[in-house]
Amino acid sequence: MLKNKGELMKNYVASISFDRRLYRQDIEGSIAHAKMLAKQGIIAESNAEAIIEGLTSIREEIEQGKFQFKPKLEDIHMNIEARLFEKIGDVAGKLHTARSRNDQIALDLRLFVKEEILKTIDELKNLQYSLVELAEANKAIIMPGYTHLQQAQPVLLAHYLLAYFDMFQRDKERFSDCLNHTDVLPLGSGALAGVAYPIDREFVAQELGFSEVSTNSLDAVSDRDFIIEYQASAALTMMHLSRLAEEIILWSSNEFGFIEINQAYTTGSSIMPQKKNPDVAELAKGKTGRIYGNLMSILTTMKALPLAYNRDMQEDKEGLFDTVDTLHASLEIFAAMIKTIKVNAKRIRDAIKKDYVLATDLADYLVKKGLPFREAHGVVAKLSEYAVNQGKSFRELSLSEYHKFSPLFSDDVYDITLESSIAARNVIGGTSPQQVEIALTRARKLIEE
Ligand code: ARG
Repeated sequence: MLKNKGELMKNYVASISFDRRLYRQDIEGSIAHAKMLAKQGIIAESNAEAIIEGLTSIREEIEQGKFQFKPKLEDIHMNIEARLFEKIGDVAGKLHTARSRNDQIALDLRLFVKEEILKTIDELKNLQYSLVELAEANKAIIMPGYTHLQQAQPVLLAHYLLAYFDMFQRDKERFSDCLNHTDVLPLGSGALAGVAYPIDREFVAQELGFSEVSTNSLDAVSDRDFIIEYQASAALTMMHLSRLAEEIILWSSNEFGFIEINQAYTTGSSIMPQKKNPDVAELAKGKTGRIYGNLMSILTTMKALPLAYNRDMQEDKEGLFDTVDTLHASLEIFAAMIKTIKVNAKRIRDAIKKDYVLATDLADYLVKKGLPFREAHGVVAKLSEYAVNQGKSFRELSLSEYHKFSPLFSDDVYDITLESSIAARNVIGGTSPQQVEIALTRARKLIEE
């Protein structure tokens, strides 16, 4: 059956099914606004008191699940206002003095995003904490480092894990930047031009915990940069998480066997009893796609919008909520999962039994004996090919075999070990135990801040 025009329209423009999530911010904002109106003598003190009492009881109704949200009333603002009328009568009509839904929704969203940023930063810290703990507990383990997913040079496992620590550190910084841009009060901008009442915006900012007051009313009601910044920071964080996820998947495969994920974070197969699938890590990669999509969505919605508020912008919310929820859930479960990871030191060691990852060190050895690096590289390339063909590790080659490739090799070539290789890379940011110790101290400091 065809719906009538009114029904079609009502359903199409309504946002209450999702913006009800902003009820707490909406009421908080309205309470601060009412207080300010009374303080400025714009409404009577007794009116403000009735309004605040009414809003407080509406908040309780919502929290107790007793509030009836009506699509007919479009959005969270109108739903709450209509209920306020029912509760306190015509005085309710005074709340919307010197305000528009345009600056009201901008306020609600900023309050919401501010809270979520703080939570996100906290979760990133927890994740970093898990990584530091895993690194500390396995400080001595040497693993093959890769380029092109080919064994390249040995590195400390702790060094590897701290690479992710640094990524998440940058993510935290991005969210902090985003917090600065979000921490600006838009209320008082009215529909678009400011309001014709002697309001006190600084007072409202203080009441609501904003550090700044917006400086242009047109911009303030139509700016959604802070949502885009949250989405972009979330996209980067998920990208980092998806890289970590892929390592976890590879490392827990039979072929690598470097780590074991606790059963609580894997699932079995309905048909193959031996399987322990790394679903959490796989899903994090999958969800990254959705987070990118949400970023593209809000960028596209905002593109080429003329000033000031346009109804297009109502589409800013569902993607934001989805990103916020997905990011929180992903960060939380990764922090928990990483805490349970068991490292299989023997498997890692075995993976580098054939010590070809020391090829660079052999070249460096020849350089120290006077050979230009490019030549040394050529010598060791041939030596490596020979060793591989003989099925021998470098260590298993005799000195006379070494001499087939260069007379510069002598007994001390056998002093080159995984340990000596690691220790040699004692530069800032390198993988030597000394540098990794410094990095761990720095990391611990950063998460204790
Ligand atoms: N539901 C609207 C939104 O989320 C609130 C602002 C509506 N303003 C308006 N003039 N219709 O964007």
